[in-house]
Amino acid sequence: MGMKIQYFSDYEGMSTKAAQLIIDAVKAKPELLFCAATGGSPTGMYKALKEAAQSDESLFEKMKVIKLDEWGDVDSKHPVSCEYYLQEHLVNPLKITPDRYMGFSADAENPKEECVRVSCVLQEKGPIDICILGIGTNGHIGFNEPNLQMTDHCHVAKLAPSTLLNGMVINMTKKPTYGLTLGVQDILSAKHIIMLVAGSGKEEATKHLVSGKITNDWPATHLWSHPNVDCLILG
Ligand code: F6R
Repeated sequence: MGMKIQYFSDYEGMSTKAAQLIIDAVKAKPELLFCAATGGSPTGMYKALKEAAQSDESLFEKMKVIKLDEWGDVDSKHPVSCEYYLQEHLVNPLKITPDRYMGFSADAENPKEECVRVSCVLQEKGPIDICILGIGTNGHIGFNEPNLQMTDHCHVAKLAPSTLLNGMVINMTKKPTYGLTLGVQDILSAKHIIMLVAGSGKEEATKHLVSGKITNDWPATHLWSHPNVDCLILG
């Protein structure tokens, strides 16, 4: 089967395992293209990567990073932006230079055009070698929300009410009005996907994910159509 599910009793164990998968991959292919999610699920993994970078300065010197998604209508310097998160947890600690970092700008004036731009970047620099994902309480991946149909490529996403309760934005008075995200096929085109399942309120989403039944009501279940997914579950 394409999905390898592993359970962890502690967050650190899950994070260390995910980091090790990435370190092994980057040793085998230093210039790999890494697609980065933000949020509570991958923070421990990024910390472990930072430690690895500190003990081996050359480890990530060729790795390229693409941002999975971004909140729309949020200043990129605002601490809730995915940009701010990635600068703090990944780009700065791993010394990813601007020429090796790409993705949606939170400040883009025309979000649709920004999606076209990122699609072109992905076409030119892709495919993604490793894609890190978290899962929303509603089963979303990136900002691919439950919907009648999934959207294949980069798009402006209407955010589900539960997404606006995510820890990153829950305390904002003026919430993001949309999301910018890679589409489901963009994600599934990655050679290797690492899904991290951690955080409160994920019980139902996890149940659907591990069931193996693919449904647009729980977008993460589409990962079952991919040949190489590591699904690391805390709990
Ligand atoms: C964030 C992203 C989202 C999150 C998901 C889980 O870049 O793509 O899909 O991965 O909402 O968020 P956390 O990890 O904060 O529970």
